[in-house]
Amino acid sequence: MGLATNLRILAVVLCLAAAQPPISANSLKTFTAKYGAFDDNSLFAKAPALIGPNALQITPDTASNLIPFTNQSGRVLLKQPFKLWKGPNNNSSCTDRVASFNSSFLINICRLNNDSTGEGLAFVLVPDFNLPNNSSGQYLGLTNSTTDGLASNHLIAVEFDTFKQDFDADDNHVGLNINSVVSKKAESLNQSGVQLSPTEAKFYNVWVEYDGVKKAIQVYIIEQPEKDGATPPRPDSPVLEEDLDLRGWVDQISYFGFSASTGNTIELNCVLRWNLTVEYFSDDNGPLIKILLGVGLPVVAAAVAAAVAVAYYCRRKKRSMPINILGALKSLPGTPREFEFKDLKKATNNFDVKKKLGQGGYGVVYKGLLQNEGLEVAVKWFSRGNLKDQDDFLAELMIISRLRHKHLVRLLGWCHKNGKLLLVYDYMPNGSLDKHLFSDSNSKPLRWNLRSNIISGVASAVHYLHNEYDKRVVHRDLKASNIMLDSNFNARLGDFGLARALDTEMTSYKEAKGVPGTMGYIAPECFHMGKATQQSDIYAFGAVLLEVVCGLRPRTEVGGFQFLVDWVWYLHREGRLLDAVDKRLGEEYVVEEAERVLLLGLACSHPIATERPQAQAIVQIISGSVAVPHVPPFKPAFVWPSMPMALEDISQATTTMTDTRFFSISTSNFGTGSTLLENSEVNEIELI
Ligand SMILES: *[C@@H]1O[C@H](CO)[C@@H](O)[C@H](O)[C@H]1NC(C)=O
Ligand SMILES: *[C@@H]1O[C@H](CO)[C@@H](O)[C@H](O)[C@H]1NC(C)=O
Ligand SMILES: *[C@@H]1O[C@H](CO)[C@@H](O)[C@H](O)[C@H]1NC(C)=O
Ligand SMILES: *[C@@H]1O[C@H](CO)[C@@H](O)[C@H](O)[C@H]1NC(C)=O
Ligand SMILES: *[C@@H]1O[C@H](CO)[C@@H](O)[C@H](O)[C@H]1NC(C)=O
Ligand SMILES: *[C@@H]1O[C@H](CO)[C@@H](O)[C@H](O)[C@H]1NC(C)=O
Ligand SMILES: *[C@@H]1O[C@H](CO)[C@@H](O)[C@H](O)[C@H]1NC(C)=O
Ligand SMILES: *[C@@H]1O[C@H](CO)[C@@H](O)[C@H](O)[C@H]1NC(C)=O
Ligand SMILES: *[C@@H]1O[C@H](CO)[C@@H](O)[C@H](O)[C@H]1NC(C)=O
Ligand SMILES: *[C@@H]1O[C@H](CO)[C@@H](O)[C@H](O)[C@H]1NC(C)=O
Repeated sequence: MGLATNLRILAVVLCLAAAQPPISANSLKTFTAKYGAFDDNSLFAKAPALIGPNALQITPDTASNLIPFTNQSGRVLLKQPFKLWKGPNNNSSCTDRVASFNSSFLINICRLNNDSTGEGLAFVLVPDFNLPNNSSGQYLGLTNSTTDGLASNHLIAVEFDTFKQDFDADDNHVGLNINSVVSKKAESLNQSGVQLSPTEAKFYNVWVEYDGVKKAIQVYIIEQPEKDGATPPRPDSPVLEEDLDLRGWVDQISYFGFSASTGNTIELNCVLRWNLTVEYFSDDNGPLIKILLGVGLPVVAAAVAAAVAVAYYCRRKKRSMPINILGALKSLPGTPREFEFKDLKKATNNFDVKKKLGQGGYGVVYKGLLQNEGLEVAVKWFSRGNLKDQDDFLAELMIISRLRHKHLVRLLGWCHKNGKLLLVYDYMPNGSLDKHLFSDSNSKPLRWNLRSNIISGVASAVHYLHNEYDKRVVHRDLKASNIMLDSNFNARLGDFGLARALDTEMTSYKEAKGVPGTMGYIAPECFHMGKATQQSDIYAFGAVLLEVVCGLRPRTEVGGFQFLVDWVWYLHREGRLLDAVDKRLGEEYVVEEAERVLLLGLACSHPIATERPQAQAIVQIISGSVAVPHVPPFKPAFVWPSMPMALEDISQATTTMTDTRFFSISTSNFGTGSTLLENSEVNEIELI
């Protein structure tokens, strides 16, 4: 599925928005809800829980000196809550039915190094996103010693418990928990032949079915021999069954998800697949609306196909509608606006070579002066405006144009006419970062405080793109030549989002093979996935960190190594990390800062995507408020392709990578290529 399709989905949304008569209010809501749970845009992870491309890690799957494995708790919830019954909240005399739901999921509770396990994983129905403090250990991320048992918890959980507490029957049971970790009902799984966390990795498919008419809950479980194999049929008999009227316990509007914890003993609590069907009551008290959500499933394809069908229908109708994307874009207040080609031509003195500011993977950038406004601008003329469809491109622009951050280059407008495509940006008087880092003249090297300031600026821009804007945006083309410097040498990130706007996955570094200075920013998994992700942005950011401190390009022959990162890693192992600092700085730099940034650069360059720190942590590390993650002395090996691992592979992985405590068994390596593709395609839809 290509870019065009993805953007058409945006078209649907706009289309529906445009056709706004009251009758469609409902269907609009249903429609967007269908995209619910396919990726981290629809799920909320309470740290240290993590949404990996192929697994929800409810407790950490790697340990660092910041976050150990022990005594952790986490939650991952669907962001969208559901109204579970009609009428007033908690009216127990109300005999109306309660919404039914079915949740089925594939879990892998992985034991490490044959140690004992702890503590467990639970499917939950909770009132909010809060994770109670001190909810590790026996509390499973549900409650803590203060709140356990309180009716005000409003929570229900189906626990898969792997550690025997005094109040537990054993260390291998399923239980129904109401407001407390002391189960209302529990059943040992021994007689079903299920061991939740055996010494060799096993995968279990679980069904939690709630019947809102009978008001009863049932739990089924069966081993799934192969992680990527077909889901076995649901067993006929439940392992646990109990009457349950949700109205007595949970909030009328509640969230579904998972929660888990570790204690003194640890395990990896992973959910690999999740299907959820919920009936919910829409706000207008209309009929039950059934929606289907899924994580990493072929269902995605069906949903997308449906959306595309609607999109085409919508498109055909669109002509008769007053609003199309171009119109919508033009009607946006302020920037970006459409420019006349002749005005840009005039501004750049007919694209005078003397006005040329630079040439990148996409085309040539000229300095211009908008005469009417007296405003200096940078005009980028795309040499390969590979546009299938102007509307698609404009739709993408619309997303980009809504991003506002002081460390992003502002897009002022565009011009697209007769195959020519130009974008107009704020002019950045100090050009791009690479010019200052690698100028071969005898000019003064960029001072340390400027470098340090640039680094934190870029980090905050990446954090904004990844986490703070309401849709998550992947930059896809982060590198020194895309980091512009304003008149005060503040960093401004440019070209974000364009990689996708132009040609689904073509980043300029990928395109510009052989152009010096473009290699070394691409995360190793990108070569396999052919997709950019937030984690590949972080990899590129790591390359930028190293080059800013070392004053060397990522692809540099240095100290017998071909890549800067390998040399820095070597120096780290040798205990002389500071030898990497740009020689031109002499003693003029802050030792602790340089050390911190170099280590962070290495941490971001981790060959395994899920091991890299995330943007938010990076911002904190750079500011010094959080310690740098532990960086192993040897660069860990890159692991691909993703294969279900046999036991010996696991032990190999753990022995060769003991330093990072990385356990491939629980991470993204689980996915097959096709799952990855599916997920990232959905990501793209969600990005809209
Ligand atoms: C509870 O529900 C019943 C039946 O739906 C209704 O008659 C009654 O007024 C409700 N009570 C309150 C306190 O809302
Ligand atoms: C849940 O699954 C059961 C058994 O397959 C089915 O009868 C029921 O209709 C399903 N409920 C929902 C809400 O999909
Ligand atoms: C989710 O639903 C799909 C389609 O119905 C099915 O193929 C898949 O096995 C289900 N997955 C789980 C974890 O139940
Ligand atoms: C794990 O423990 C079991 C039982 O204690 C033992 O039989 C098995 O050999 C151990 N496996 C490994 C890989 O140490
Ligand atoms: C338990 O969590 C509540 C809030 O969820 C918090 O107020 C309380 O301090 C926590 N208790 C402990 C012992 O941390
Ligand atoms: C949890 O603990 C942190 C610090 O230990 C505190 O700032 C926060 O308010 C606590 N949260 C609750 C809900 O008590
Ligand atoms: C957990 O409880 C202890 C006291 O029992 C307190 O010192 C600590 O701050 C709490 N942790 C959090 C995250 O609230
Ligand atoms: C189930 O098996 C586990 C592990 O062998 C054991 O520790 C536990 O006591 C058993 N539970 C029951 C109820 O027998
Ligand atoms: C509903 O009311 C009952 C009795 O007043 C109370 O025990 C229970 O906690 C309430 N439940 C909710 C979800 O408010
Ligand atoms: C985990 O928490 C418990 C209870 O707070 C504490 O006794 C124990 O030392 C902690 N374990 C580790 C490994 O930190």
